[in-house]
Amino acid sequence: MKHTARRRHLKSSFALAVVGVTLLPSPSRAQDVELASPDGRNHVAVEVRDGGLYYSVDRDGRKVITPSLLGFEFRDAPPLRDSLRITGTQRDSLDETWTQPWGQVAEVRNHYNEVRVSVAEAGAAGRRFDGGFRAFDDGIAFRYEVPEQPGFGAYEMTDELTEFTLATDGRAWWVPADEWNRYEFLYSASPPSRLGQVHTPLTIEMQDGLNVVIHEADLVDYAGMSLLGTETRTLQAELAPWADGVKVRGTAPLVSPWRTIEMADRPEDLEPATMALNLNPPSRIEDTGWIDPMKYVGIWWSLHIDVETWGSGPRHGATTENTRRYIDFAAENGIGGVLVEGWNLGWDGNWMENADEFSFTEPYPDYDLEALAAYAQERGVELIGHNETSMGIDNYERQMDEAFALYESLGINAIKTGYVGDLTAEGHAHHGQHMVRHWRKVLETAARHRIMVNAHEPIKDTGERRTWPNMLTREGARGMEYAAWGGEGGNPPEHETILFFTRLHGAPMDYTPGIFDILIESADGEPRAPEESRIRTTLAKQLALYVVIYSPLQMAADLPENYEGRPEFQFIRDVPVDWQDTKVLEAEIGDYVVVARQERGGEEWFLGAITDEEGRTFEIPLDFLPDGEWVAEVYADGPDAHWLTNPFPVEISEWPVASGDTLTVRLPP
Ligand code: NOJ
Ligand code: CA
Repeated sequence: MKHTARRRHLKSSFALAVVGVTLLPSPSRAQDVELASPDGRNHVAVEVRDGGLYYSVDRDGRKVITPSLLGFEFRDAPPLRDSLRITGTQRDSLDETWTQPWGQVAEVRNHYNEVRVSVAEAGAAGRRFDGGFRAFDDGIAFRYEVPEQPGFGAYEMTDELTEFTLATDGRAWWVPADEWNRYEFLYSASPPSRLGQVHTPLTIEMQDGLNVVIHEADLVDYAGMSLLGTETRTLQAELAPWADGVKVRGTAPLVSPWRTIEMADRPEDLEPATMALNLNPPSRIEDTGWIDPMKYVGIWWSLHIDVETWGSGPRHGATTENTRRYIDFAAENGIGGVLVEGWNLGWDGNWMENADEFSFTEPYPDYDLEALAAYAQERGVELIGHNETSMGIDNYERQMDEAFALYESLGINAIKTGYVGDLTAEGHAHHGQHMVRHWRKVLETAARHRIMVNAHEPIKDTGERRTWPNMLTREGARGMEYAAWGGEGGNPPEHETILFFTRLHGAPMDYTPGIFDILIESADGEPRAPEESRIRTTLAKQLALYVVIYSPLQMAADLPENYEGRPEFQFIRDVPVDWQDTKVLEAEIGDYVVVARQERGGEEWFLGAITDEEGRTFEIPLDFLPDGEWVAEVYADGPDAHWLTNPFPVEISEWPVASGDTLTVRLPP
């Protein structure tokens, strides 16, 4: 990554020893420490009350977070919570702009003021730690660092005591964090004071209209954090446990992830979020030239609608012949990748319960891995290797290096991983420290073999793609697949308008858009009835999702035969997956989103607009376009289109436009 340092102060990492630091004399009484963002709007204050350490946040003088507790509890050691005092502060700031190898925006400005607050327990033997606070124009972040010292070496943390006490109630968009099925739930909206245990990012519309997102960044060797409601406006950090109940184990120094509170006046201003990226260290991959965002097709939807099978037998999807067909289709349509699921031994029987049977190197006999990899290369397409672990982490880690070396030797430089299951075989939580370590290990091993990663059933995004830009995309919410499985499943029309501000907050998602067979007729020749699970969308909305939902690996998810001869498919051929710039033009969480994005390395702009089950019309000023003559190529819902009764009509038209013009965007229900 290229860094253009504008003004660089002493350091940006707490682990560095720094010369010339100002340590203020120890305050004799409880003393507030204050920090403001570069634009002066966001403030964080740190103080000691009755021996406890608290922080609070305000914006434009309005309270956002009222004094909220900080600290830890440990097994076999006293909590780090009581009889604390602030012993010093150290200030710093940074303003730099760095270039992403790929992303929603090319240039990212990292601009903040920082204060590191040193804290100690009373008494000569008192332990000490630091709280690092950063104030950005888009929010506040803080993290803990407990150095090695007498009384703190190897530790087992049983609770992180961080609290977030909201100054007002409001409306939080949430999925539960204490149930099975990871992040894959429909979102609900409730006042923060009524929440149970919920995942982050947690997006909240406060009563005074401020938009707030609570999340974390730089999750490296720690447990994932969710938030626990308390029937008040206080949300408590809740860490995903090891099987024995410990939350985080390690040896000092203990460095926590950043806890982040992003703030924006309008929902439109929440995206494209970059604070989490800025809170992660720069790239560990020096030459990123091999990391190449692309669209892909795959032997995948056919498996979910049960036309073909993962396992061996007469309907096996991953055959040599079938894969050649997908490779040909990709090559003919300028699509970069072909995902093949069910190519490797281990899918027969109940694969969700036989994790140890998965081989990541041995193909089924009807799948000629080497010949297909060579054929793909010949046709200018890349095979994407599929690694479903079923949460058999030991089994995967045993084979990982050898498997990735094999893929590298065959020119396979992308994999899709999978973690179907709620706990590891040993009983560790899906989002606990054990799994967080595993996912880092996958990224590091993959980077060594020049492999890009698309993770399903992943840990949430905490900005690690800055450090490991081979971490391209992930699932981590209800994707398109929910519509395939029949019954009453599927996602409601509003789903993507919520995802955009929650799961997708600053983070790519492999949602797998582009289903043209909306009624899933290809499953058995019969269209699905309205009450059955089908894609709750219009066809034009499937196209708009390529602009709205950001993913550097973006699937054209339907069967190739459903794209053949369809003029709408031209849009999927044309749409880029890497962007120079992104602007959210109109948005209301849960209702609608209109986004414009400029392609990276080109001139074209793309505009995507989606709504929920309400029809809406927008007048969009095209003032984001540079001066000059432009042609709008429009794929719009036809006049009588309706997601439930008439999803298919799409009108394709073309006309000249200029920067000062207004585009009328009509979205049916
Ligand atoms: C769930 C993933 O989301 C899906 O994409 C994949 O096909 C199956 N697991 C099997 O690995
Ligand atoms: Ca999934």
